Amino acid sequence: MSDFQQLLEQLRQSNVTKTIHKEPYPAILPSRPELSQAGKVVLISGGGTGIGLAIARSFVRASADTVIIVGRRPDVIATAGSNLEQEAKTAGTNTKIVARPCDLVNLAEVDAFWKDLAAQGITVDVFVANAAKFTEPKPILELGADEVWSHFEANAKAPLYFTEKFCSQPGDKQKFLVNVSTQAIHDTANPGVAVRPAYTLTKMAGTLLFQVIAQNTSPKKLQVISFHPGLIYNDAWKAMSASLVPELFDNVDLCSGFAVWAATKEAEFLHGRFVWASWDVEELSTGDVRKRIDEDPYFLKCSIVGINGGLLA
Ligand SMILES: NC(=O)c1ccc[n+]([C@@H]2O[C@H](COP(=O)([O-])OP(=O)(O)OC[C@H]3O[C@@H](n4cnc5c(N)ncnc54)[C@H](OP(=O)(O)O)[C@@H]3O)[C@@H](O)[C@H]2O)c1
Repeated sequence: MSDFQQLLEQLRQSNVTKTIHKEPYPAILPSRPELSQAGKVVLISGGGTGIGLAIARSFVRASADTVIIVGRRPDVIATAGSNLEQEAKTAGTNTKIVARPCDLVNLAEVDAFWKDLAAQGITVDVFVANAAKFTEPKPILELGADEVWSHFEANAKAPLYFTEKFCSQPGDKQKFLVNVSTQAIHDTANPGVAVRPAYTLTKMAGTLLFQVIAQNTSPKKLQVISFHPGLIYNDAWKAMSASLVPELFDNVDLCSGFAVWAATKEAEFLHGRFVWASWDVEELSTGDVRKRIDEDPYFLKCSIVGINGGLLA
């Protein structure tokens, strides 16, 4: 086993639910009637590739009325849009697909994008904050403030600005926000994570951002959940080592089904928390883990490890 393969094995370990899934399972299947997205408009940032595209596919399978994907590259987003239209035909849903180029870091483009949606009378019900900037393996002080700041722009400021637009739409229908986070925010001592501190820093900032948004918002108005999607093969993994072949990675349909589940009322008890897509949702929803979620305001949240006890009953 190569060092990189060993790293993948370490990164799969967690201790919250006993059951750790590797494949999609009934409770999170988009075809489950309870997870139906009929009547919903769903917007996925970075929906043209990888995890974002898989999440878009799962929302199509869950019968969303409209699925909107955005990304910077017009050709990539257009091809993904065609694939999703095909998916809607195959799945037999009538989902309308909207594929739009938009750079989330460019606030003028974002303003124009939301203005255009409003002009078309489109109101978004579910926002999946998935787009992110990855980083090269370099210590933070060698990257330089400008480069580190560009990560904050992409991984914290852009999702905040987009969320402001999402929340300021007219009407009072319940909204759902699903943030694609990463285990890199808590596995900071793992050498494979520690080499990319700008990613950890800014994804943590983005995750804490959604946690504090949730803190001030009722889930009945805006339900907010962050999750780690698992280890999903992409160009960044490919560039790391030839020993990292696609077969070693997780099934992307596990995290995409989880994202749909997280956008339903079944997941309300996780409002403001961070979870992994591989954790069993029935085990999370019941028994000891659920008890801890209900009783411990710090469990599965961003904080400082080790000093919360004094504030607990
Ligand atoms: N893959 C994994 O193992 C893994 C593990 C943990 C967490 N994650 C998280 O999963 C999410 C998706 O990652 P991925 O693995 O699917 O990688 P990916 O294919 O590189 O996805 C990133 C997407 O974001 C878009 N994007 C980036 N910057 C953007 C911007 N400024 N404006 C609009 N769109 C932008 C990209 O499209 P354009 O380049 O065309 O804009 C791309 O579609 C990220 O949040 C990442 O942190 C992934």
